[in-house]
Amino acid sequence: MQSQAWCGMSIFYEELDFRPTPIGDLMLRRRRMPQFGDTDIYEVKLAEDFLMTSLFHEAESQLAIKGLAALDRGDLDVVVGGLGLGYTAVEALKDARVASLVVVDFLEAVIGWHQSELVPLGKTLNDDLRCSLRQADFFALMRNAPEKQLDAILLDIDHTPTNVLHQSNTHFYTEEGLAEMAQHLKPDGVFAMWADGAPEDFFAERLGLVFAETKAHTIEFNNPITGGTSVGAVYVAAGRR
Ligand SMILES: C[S@@+](CC[C@H](N)C(=O)[O-])C[C@H]1O[C@@H](n2cnc3c(N)ncnc32)[C@H](O)[C@@H]1O
Repeated sequence: MQSQAWCGMSIFYEELDFRPTPIGDLMLRRRRMPQFGDTDIYEVKLAEDFLMTSLFHEAESQLAIKGLAALDRGDLDVVVGGLGLGYTAVEALKDARVASLVVVDFLEAVIGWHQSELVPLGKTLNDDLRCSLRQADFFALMRNAPEKQLDAILLDIDHTPTNVLHQSNTHFYTEEGLAEMAQHLKPDGVFAMWADGAPEDFFAERLGLVFAETKAHTIEFNNPITGGTSVGAVYVAAGRR
């Protein structure tokens, strides 16, 4: 008989999915680490990029909190770019003013993990009638004519505007690309974006070319892997010019 470890499955480590995608090999794994006891840690890797862990997600939640806080009305139509493990989406749904939430992810597998409730937040998203999951390239959608004018777009796909998952994404972060995206927002709509590391002046300034108001938040959070503090950025821009 094969041992569980031999099958790639044990109480400490399980590869839940592995498949090639057009943007690299995608892996979902669950593991336990002695220092975190019986906490199951879910992790997503895409090629050499570490995309997401369930161990810390303060910055992903802050993206939704800070983005939606910039709106002072209700009945909000919101799009989240990048589903991942669903923390940004679930945080957005905690805001009762959100009337509809479309979460766009390029990878069918990521959407499937949530639909089949293989990942912890799948059930929350499936049970919320305001939420729908859409398989599409977010950046291609933003280049096309708007299907609907939105109150907010919350984006967490690339590591930073210059450290991207795929080179074709770089256009989005140019003034032209941001202006195309802004056409998908109502005139006073909000664009918010998470990025790794401290806010970068050049990007805040670029947002200021397209939006009347911009703010760059520094998000500090405990990183249980390093045992130290890590930093992320949440940019919030409102009122397209
Ligand atoms: C860092 S994760 C998002 C994490 C998410 N904020 C959360 O709370 O878990 C990035 C996600 O973007 C998706 N993605 C990558 N390229 C994309 C694209 N061009 N369009 C839409 N989604 C994309 C990946 O499949 C992945 O699910």
